[in-house]
Amino acid sequence: MSVFDDLARRIERWSALDRAADPLAAAVGRAARPGPVRDLLSGAVLGHPLHPLLTDVPIGAWTMAGLLDLVGGRAAPVADVLVATGVVAAVPTAATGLHDWSDTRGAPRRVGLVHAAANSAALGLYTASLLARLRGRRTAGKALGLAGLGALTAGGYLGGHLSYVEGVGVNRTAWRRGPARWTDVAAAGELPEGEPRRVVAGRVSLVLVREGERVHALDSVCSHMGGPLDEGEVAGGCVRCPWHGSVFRLADGSVVHGPATSPQPAYETRVEQDRVQVRARPR
Ligand code: FES
Repeated sequence: MSVFDDLARRIERWSALDRAADPLAAAVGRAARPGPVRDLLSGAVLGHPLHPLLTDVPIGAWTMAGLLDLVGGRAAPVADVLVATGVVAAVPTAATGLHDWSDTRGAPRRVGLVHAAANSAALGLYTASLLARLRGRRTAGKALGLAGLGALTAGGYLGGHLSYVEGVGVNRTAWRRGPARWTDVAAAGELPEGEPRRVVAGRVSLVLVREGERVHALDSVCSHMGGPLDEGEVAGGCVRCPWHGSVFRLADGSVVHGPATSPQPAYETRVEQDRVQVRARPR
């Protein structure tokens, strides 16, 4: 285990962070109710998480500014523009990150808090660097930028840990695949109209919903963070996740409202002699 990984693991166990993290996450959750703002911040409108896309801008701009600071000379004004670009881009990047972080729990929430603190420190240092450059204090501006790059690197490492080790922001259904052949899962006559019912098909669990003669089947594990869709609310041809309010269309699993950005796997269904059968749709 590297020293960095060891540090990340220590942060995961640092329960004292919960005293700050939990009230802040609750406040963000209250401010960002399911709807258009949440769809935008999560990236549901794009069908892709927005935060990792936006992080490329400040990271790229500030890293290039650091290189141009080393070159100096005629590169100096370009470095200043890149520092300013990173400062401006960091604001929406932080807003999307704060939104995503508010849905986490436990260890990822603690790591996310330190990730945000490191990146906020980077933003503060680069803002100070920009002000120093504007006042003609180039040496101080470069030094503050270098310190900002250090904070940014620490924050970036923890952001990678959140995604690649903790699995924050990944599609929770990516590796779930039900049977490709018609598989018997339930008695059609026992399915109440418009109420979700959990069944098992092969190695995955599904949620069935009967609407008149039609039976819909979606993976029961929410693509956002694994919430149980079989405990969700059904209305208007959709099911709403009980954890963070993502809404999926029953007919095809598409995302109607985030924070989920990946559609829910939908299964083909048929009724044979009062038995509901399902099979995975071809990809
Ligand atoms: S787990 Fe977050 S919306 Fe379903």
